Amino acid sequence: MIHTVDHPLVQHKLTLLREKDRSTNSFRRLLHEIAMLMAYEVTRDTPTQLIEIETPLARMRSPVIDGKKTVFVSVMRAGSGFLDGMLEVVPGARVGHIGLYRDPKTHVAVEYYFKMPQDMHERDAVVLDPMLATGNSAVAAVERLKETSPKSIRFVCLLAAPEGLANFQRHHPDVPVFTAAIDERLDEHGYILPGLGDAGDRLFGTR
Ligand code: URA
Repeated sequence: MIHTVDHPLVQHKLTLLREKDRSTNSFRRLLHEIAMLMAYEVTRDTPTQLIEIETPLARMRSPVIDGKKTVFVSVMRAGSGFLDGMLEVVPGARVGHIGLYRDPKTHVAVEYYFKMPQDMHERDAVVLDPMLATGNSAVAAVERLKETSPKSIRFVCLLAAPEGLANFQRHHPDVPVFTAAIDERLDEHGYILPGLGDAGDRLFGTR
């Protein structure tokens, strides 16, 4: 299942973010804001339970989020630009990290770091990786995450290429994907077109 988050605020901010002359500071801020807005969509069906509380006027039963805390899984390094905004909306979430780099020749994902919280089997995992390009790193990240048996997994990106989506869905048809846009295609270097360039470089001001 693919969910395109087509809220006008998300789409407006995404347009600004794509612009090539946008400063690092502005890029980071926009990515943060988009992540906050996407967090609403991604967490929409989070289960709640009623608890008894007392307002200044009366007792009532009111909903709170049920069960163990969500775990955001940031795929380094661009995932961290998404993570901050998500954490602002879901401050109690736990955080896991997966370090993958893309071999520049083969585009195959190579793992260099993996750290998750305890009790993964009781947690809903939300994997954060802004660019679903070839899909190889997303496929590898989710494959590795599945070894920890989380209760559920969702994958959240900012931009997706059709090739990456097809690759991801072929390997993980059970994992819903949330994206702000599906772009045209990949170029010969595995970059998304029209895309926004290298998300990590733009986020951290490296090149
Ligand atoms: N990673 C990026 O940061 N950008 C792309 O276009 C593809 C992969």
